[in-house]
Amino acid sequence: MSQDHYFSRDPTVASRSKTIQVTLPDVSFELDTDRGVFAHGHLDIGTDLLLRTVPTVPPGELLDVGCGYGAIAITVALRNPDARVWAVDVNRRALDLCARNAERAGAVNVVAAEPDAVPGGIKFAAIYSNPPVRLGKEALHELLLTWIGRLEPDALATLVVQRHLGSDSLAAWLTSLGHRVERVRSRFGYRVLEVHAVAASPHDDSRAR
Ligand SMILES: C[S@@+](CC[C@H](N)C(=O)[O-])C[C@H]1O[C@@H](n2cnc3c(N)ncnc32)[C@H](O)[C@@H]1O
Repeated sequence: MSQDHYFSRDPTVASRSKTIQVTLPDVSFELDTDRGVFAHGHLDIGTDLLLRTVPTVPPGELLDVGCGYGAIAITVALRNPDARVWAVDVNRRALDLCARNAERAGAVNVVAAEPDAVPGGIKFAAIYSNPPVRLGKEALHELLLTWIGRLEPDALATLVVQRHLGSDSLAAWLTSLGHRVERVRSRFGYRVLEVHAVAASPHDDSRAR
């Protein structure tokens, strides 16, 4: 199944494009999806739940960690034209789709980029992610620490994670690092978590995994 490899850099599975319609209360647009990219041919239930949980988004620099074909990045970009939305992924087929989908949807404020291409000095006013939990705990924790550590002081990361894929232990781990974590929605076996930034102390080694 193509999702087994959705975080390959260059998926080898043959391309088979399928267009889907995203219809939310405030925005509606089409997305091309493909094999080798997460949620081929349908909008993921968790992603849909996340998007229905964050009706307003702040201006400024925003981030979608693991953008796939762009559902989250494009929605938040359309919700606030005064934001610039960095859509990052390691899967180049996904990034290509995201860039094309953003253009078609008129989301000119989406920047689809490999993670290393995001300038190091940028701090984020908000992060939105359906994160790649199938990477495994250690890699997922490292990924989240990297990006959540770049939130502005009072900013939030909103994550959607399936309960059976470890949403509650992820929330407990983030809490143990000093983040305030709120479970703002729980539906269809998914949790939407709001993770508040913490000011990191350079001498605090309790943030170790
Ligand atoms: C669960 S999917 C979500 C995709 C999309 N946001 C959606 O909701 O349909 C997670 C995404 O994270 C990407 N990913 C995996 N490792 C990553 C990394 N180190 N940095 C950024 N993205 C990564 C995968 O390629 C995949 O597209």
